[in-house]
Amino acid sequence: MRIKLEVASIERVEADALVVPIFDKESPGGGLPSESAQAANDLAGGWIEELYRSGEFSGKEFETAMLYRPPGMKARRLLVVGAGRSDRFTPAGLRKVAGAAVRFLKPKSTPTIALVLDSGAAAAGQAAAAVEGAILGDFEPDQLKTDKKDAKTVDTFTVVLPGGDESLAETLRSAQVLAEAQNFARTLVNEPANRMTPTVLAARAREMAAECGLECQVLAQDQMRELGMGALLGVAQGSAEPPVLILLRYRPIEESGGAHLGLVGKGITFDSGGISIKPSEGMDKMKYDMAGGAAVIGAMRAIAQLRPPIPVTALIPAVENMPGSRAQRPGDIVATLSGKTVEVLNTDAEGRLILADALTYARTLGCTHLVDAATLTGAIVVALGQVNVGVFSSDDALLQRVLAAARAEGEKMWPMPMDEEYKEQLKSAFADLPNIGTRWGGAVTAAMFLKEFADPTPWVHLDIAGAAWLDDAKPFLAKGPTGVAVRTLAGLAVNWK
Ligand code: BES
Ligand code: MN
Ligand code: ZN
Repeated sequence: MRIKLEVASIERVEADALVVPIFDKESPGGGLPSESAQAANDLAGGWIEELYRSGEFSGKEFETAMLYRPPGMKARRLLVVGAGRSDRFTPAGLRKVAGAAVRFLKPKSTPTIALVLDSGAAAAGQAAAAVEGAILGDFEPDQLKTDKKDAKTVDTFTVVLPGGDESLAETLRSAQVLAEAQNFARTLVNEPANRMTPTVLAARAREMAAECGLECQVLAQDQMRELGMGALLGVAQGSAEPPVLILLRYRPIEESGGAHLGLVGKGITFDSGGISIKPSEGMDKMKYDMAGGAAVIGAMRAIAQLRPPIPVTALIPAVENMPGSRAQRPGDIVATLSGKTVEVLNTDAEGRLILADALTYARTLGCTHLVDAATLTGAIVVALGQVNVGVFSSDDALLQRVLAAARAEGEKMWPMPMDEEYKEQLKSAFADLPNIGTRWGGAVTAAMFLKEFADPTPWVHLDIAGAAWLDDAKPFLAKGPTGVAVRTLAGLAVNWK
């Protein structure tokens, strides 16, 4: 999708559809508080007021009404999309409105779409959100459908700012980079496990690195054995697919500040549970257990294009968790890269095992700050649903940075506790640590386990098990992989100070 900026009044915009966000008529001040809505209404002879009066359209979120050949305008169609109450309107809301507009129009053959914004102080944030929403809304998880003869595309999305200026071009480019990186991650996650093995994930990362100018190194099984990554290799044992540790390095031309960010992503390309096998119901969804790894790869793609002054190293342990005849058994004890031993009481708690070795390795590479993203626990889905990412941290300063990045990028993330009391659950009679706790507080004990391997380096853990996958499509987003955490991780690096 091409992204354009047009500084013009709405009557001059040429497009298959011109989109105007319209506020709820119950908003304070009522009616049409925005300049663009007022202008569209006036040109179209009071059409929007008429819609309000008819009761057919009241401006509630994602309501739509379309007028063909709107009078006084060059655009073929005028689409109004409800944006909710004006006093509750945020860039996050506009991201959804733009996505809903694209998803509504796309099946109707509208290769060129333009969306009108009001100029003013909020214009930059809104323009960025609109671009992101359009690109994210355009994504369909239909890579492997062959019957796409009626498939329609949106080729150009134009942000129209009647009183704006060209200085917004850079903002739009960065929004485009972020959203495209997020869709790239979604494409990786959407691949089923037979087509997305650890080896394939490494090849995709390598290809992206070559295109974007990142260094890529892939550690093979024997190299990991030599290093002593016993926890990662234990998980890999049950699968015919060899494991890999994918490393991506971004180095700025000029470094500032001395910080070195390490991004670690869980790359379980399929999680059957291993010998502690999962119930068959819903097991198909476990192809998305590499969503953390995909988010990190996506973030690196954006970082390579936006070139912040901080070095960033990404580590993606990629492994298939299967119950093959060589699989590790409950009760096995593995020696991690850190030297600590772990009793594998449940082979389905595999994410923390591969992340333990990757976090240790990140520390040996000199990372001063660590952030991991992982579809780590069902418990976080119970706690937060598919809405928020659970955020765990050992370091308040880094936690605040990550939460600020999430807020700036419009990704919902919620801080979770990490009190020492939870650690009481991590006692093993036969090894330094067990890989599971009791029934209670499962997302926290998983995080406490990771902390043992990240300490003393400042570290944040994002449990994205809920937010990484949408079971039911939204008006603005397809069902399936969401690409959550890509924008936050990239934004964290890009705005590092
Ligand atoms: N990949 C799963 C976590 C998960 C569950 C993600 C549901 C998305 C949806 C993880 O490897 C896992 O199996 N965790 C277990 C841990 C348990 C055995 C302590 C879980 O959450 O049930
Ligand atoms: Mn598991
Ligand atoms: Zn898993």
